[in-house]
Amino acid sequence: MNTLGDNLDYNLAERQIRDIISREDDFLLKNVIDYLYENFENYSWVGIYLVKGNYLILGPWKGPNATEHTKIPIGKGICGSAAASGQTEIISDVNADKRYLSCFVSTKSEIVVPIRKDGKVLGEIDIDSDKKSAFTNKDKEFLEKIADMLSLHI
Ligand code: SME
Repeated sequence: MNTLGDNLDYNLAERQIRDIISREDDFLLKNVIDYLYENFENYSWVGIYLVKGNYLILGPWKGPNATEHTKIPIGKGICGSAAASGQTEIISDVNADKRYLSCFVSTKSEIVVPIRKDGKVLGEIDIDSDKKSAFTNKDKEFLEKIADMLSLHI
């Protein structure tokens, strides 16, 4: 369970993030990342990767540690797979997925949500959790809405 609680609170989070985005300040992406990290207990590390050529380049992130994976080729790892397919990846047990690029020993599950505009992947939201199977369809639906909102600001 996250700190916001049930379904209704995903709606609250969506509204609050919409509000953050509507301010259109210079730290918009960073502010959204910080909000997600601070309000969802299961979200142990939250970052945004941006597509540059054939690579994903790490943008704003928040978590206890920095990742060594700041530049990931499209097609590599969970992140690169989601960027190549344009589809959200939910990995309930990262150690059981051969594609997984390890960042933190504490990570047990991961969700990667592409940020798309006009059918093109511009980047993605990447969230690691220290809990196994932390991400549900609710997280997917919620984060896909956030990704859609962000797509207008990248
Ligand atoms: N685990 C990702 C790499 C990014 S870190 O989680 C921050 C992957 O397999 O692509």
